[in-house]
Amino acid sequence: MITTSAPAKIILCGEHAVVYNRPAIALPLGDVRAYAEATPTAPGTGLYFVAPDLGETWSFSSDPQHPLSELAATVLDHLGAAAPDLTITLRSDIPIAGGMGSGAAIGAALVRAVAQALGHNLPPAEVSALVYASEGRYHGTPSGIDNTVIAYEQAIWFQRRPDTAPLIAPIRVATPLTLVIGDTGVRSATHRPVCDLRERWQAEPATYEARFDAVAAVVTQARAALAAGDLAALGQIMNTNQTLLEELGISSPELDCLVHAARQAGALGAKLSGAGWGGVMIALAHSDQCQQVADALQAAGASRVRVALVPVCAGEI
Ligand code: MEV
Repeated sequence: MITTSAPAKIILCGEHAVVYNRPAIALPLGDVRAYAEATPTAPGTGLYFVAPDLGETWSFSSDPQHPLSELAATVLDHLGAAAPDLTITLRSDIPIAGGMGSGAAIGAALVRAVAQALGHNLPPAEVSALVYASEGRYHGTPSGIDNTVIAYEQAIWFQRRPDTAPLIAPIRVATPLTLVIGDTGVRSATHRPVCDLRERWQAEPATYEARFDAVAAVVTQARAALAAGDLAALGQIMNTNQTLLEELGISSPELDCLVHAARQAGALGAKLSGAGWGGVMIALAHSDQCQQVADALQAAGASRVRVALVPVCAGEI
């Protein structure tokens, strides 16, 4: 049996504006993962998928329209291989539609499982590209940041560029970060706020372009704060990013409530993370204050609270 996995992710700053070619910073969450177990089966059995958490079982040949069958077909096409006799069991600790990259992580684990079962150990760039192709079908206009941070499993600076490949660079983190992640418990598929924002951008391009520029400035400041290990500055930058996300119409009463609770409990800064309208928020805290922040999030109604430690990273940018 082959077991592969991929981490969850959070966006530290720059979500949504990243769809419009502005930079963003994303971090993998190594302790929260999606897994794929590939078990060889008797010749002629075919390719099957089992997702016990969802109570779903389906076959590649009889359900080719299933999003994960389509992803497997893309991998097989890429490798020039026929469907193997295999059962792939998918499990995940990552909440679905919770802003933590569940779809991209399950996709990356699946891509690795199919490829490894056929004797290929794909590099992160290939895993990322294959997952991106499938994300595009379901998320409308994804920037590619989720599949990238998840496939590379590294803190990254990410920026789409017109007519060329995105700029992807490991980012310098000079001092470890303690992030408290609060889940609103509200599930919201990524494509909904992304499509809604696109309509508003089309109606008022100048207003939204200016807001995206303001987000880009904040992301650039966050890069400097990370490189300097200046946590107080980073907290303030996260707060500014949250204000801009509110102006972009991406927050929600539940997110606002958790962000407020984290700040009241002594967090250095707090903002929503990911697609918004639900899902998770993140708070930056000194390590001796993170329990206080976590308790406050719980008391304010978070359905789940996690603490993530982001390690120092040499980075390139
Ligand atoms: C979702 O994790 C991040 C968004 O910016 C969408 C995207 O970049 O594709 C909201």
